[in-house]
Amino acid sequence: MNATTGAAARSDALVVFGFTGDLANKKILPALYGMVKRGELAVPVVGVASTALSGEQVQQRVRDSIEHAGGVDDARAFDKLLSLVRYVAGDYKEPATFAALRTALGSAARPAHYLAIPPPLFETVIRSLGAAGLAANARVIIEKPFGRDLASAIALDAAAHAVFPEASIFRIDHYLGKEAIMNILYFRFANSFLEPIWNRHHVASVEVTLAEDFGIGERGGFYESAGALRDVVENHLFQIVALLAMEPPATPGFAAVHAEKAGVFQAMRKLTANDVVRGQYEGYRAEKGVAADSDVETFCAARLFIDSWRWAGVPWYLRTGKFLATSAAEVIVRLQRPPQRLFDDGEPTREPPNYIRFRLQPTPAIAIAARVKRPGKGFVGEQRELFLCEDEAGEEPTYARLLGDAMAGDGALFTSQDAVEAAWAVVDGVLAHHPAALSYARGSWGPRAADDLIAGAGGWHTLDAKEGCPP
Ligand code: BG6
Repeated sequence: MNATTGAAARSDALVVFGFTGDLANKKILPALYGMVKRGELAVPVVGVASTALSGEQVQQRVRDSIEHAGGVDDARAFDKLLSLVRYVAGDYKEPATFAALRTALGSAARPAHYLAIPPPLFETVIRSLGAAGLAANARVIIEKPFGRDLASAIALDAAAHAVFPEASIFRIDHYLGKEAIMNILYFRFANSFLEPIWNRHHVASVEVTLAEDFGIGERGGFYESAGALRDVVENHLFQIVALLAMEPPATPGFAAVHAEKAGVFQAMRKLTANDVVRGQYEGYRAEKGVAADSDVETFCAARLFIDSWRWAGVPWYLRTGKFLATSAAEVIVRLQRPPQRLFDDGEPTREPPNYIRFRLQPTPAIAIAARVKRPGKGFVGEQRELFLCEDEAGEEPTYARLLGDAMAGDGALFTSQDAVEAAWAVVDGVLAHHPAALSYARGSWGPRAADDLIAGAGGWHTLDAKEGCPP
């Protein structure tokens, strides 16, 4: 913190551990290129990984990553990025690697260390940073999942705090940096019409789906140690639930938002085996890095309750999976039906109830579904959507936003340890005791048992990735 201005000092270098990995290749390097283009990044970027690479090979990797993400459309920015990149090869367990990192950092005195590495390596790297004197005035950015369960999350946090103060630890759940997800918070509390109905008296159930129509790709090693429950449900989906379910923050600013979100995780009822359906896509066991008898789930559906004054008795249905029928993410908040049938509509109980739909991906939108009368003599209507399509122009790419915020010391869009631990506590039991994963066909919506889980609430909503904004 700068004593005169009160502002946190900006990091003067970015260290990317896991420079040759999938995350760096797909998300981080393109984000850095975008940041350089917009004039947001002008400090050294030191990549660290175990593979020995020549300077030319490092540059080629950077080029390949950016080509893959859409191509180089600004040669000057691209050259500038290359001029910022330095590379250190070495074993994360060896002090020599960190000595080389210190040399590569040159005169930089406030680096941000980004751990884009497998979670089992977090503690080793953090300890070595401390031992090498690279933690003073530095920040550390950790990727979810934070640990593998509650006990390991507590151990990881203790290891991080042995070296870094809380204000220097940034826990990334990249869903928190997405515009459509930030808009849940905004839409709920910047409008007044929602609050009176946003509770157990008016909401019948809530569904959150994050579907992907592709498999685990090259991430077999990571996925075998994670599975859909750890990889997506316990963080991305829980974060969405927390924004939907939280109480209004009492004061402006993100400290109050963090506190209210942690309150939601603390009020979540612990999941039991009966609340969860685990699935595995056909052919998963033949993927690279996957055990021939693996029981790891690539699909997970869960029924969750939040035992709070506001949400008591309202079921929340969560669902995610690889190789599903489409790639899209949506929230459906289903409202109660009217208490009395007054009109001639055919079979009202078979019609979907009114709902509010937050479409998060691929094209963000918010829809409010209500019944309106069809022209004619009878009082017969149909459900129609009021559709608010969000203009994505101007959206800052998620990782650029989050890395920029972390380097500036702004923790608003990062997760707190309270929230991390409370979320693990909800799933800890089913991580240890669960039914075997059920096989499902690629391109389907997962195992049939997942439909049974939500049958009482009217079934899963159908997602359509091609749905766009009305012309
Ligand atoms: C990551 C998970 O955190 O989120 C992946 O590890 C998943 O398995 C991804 O595919 C989804 O993120 P996005 O931004 O592509 O929806």
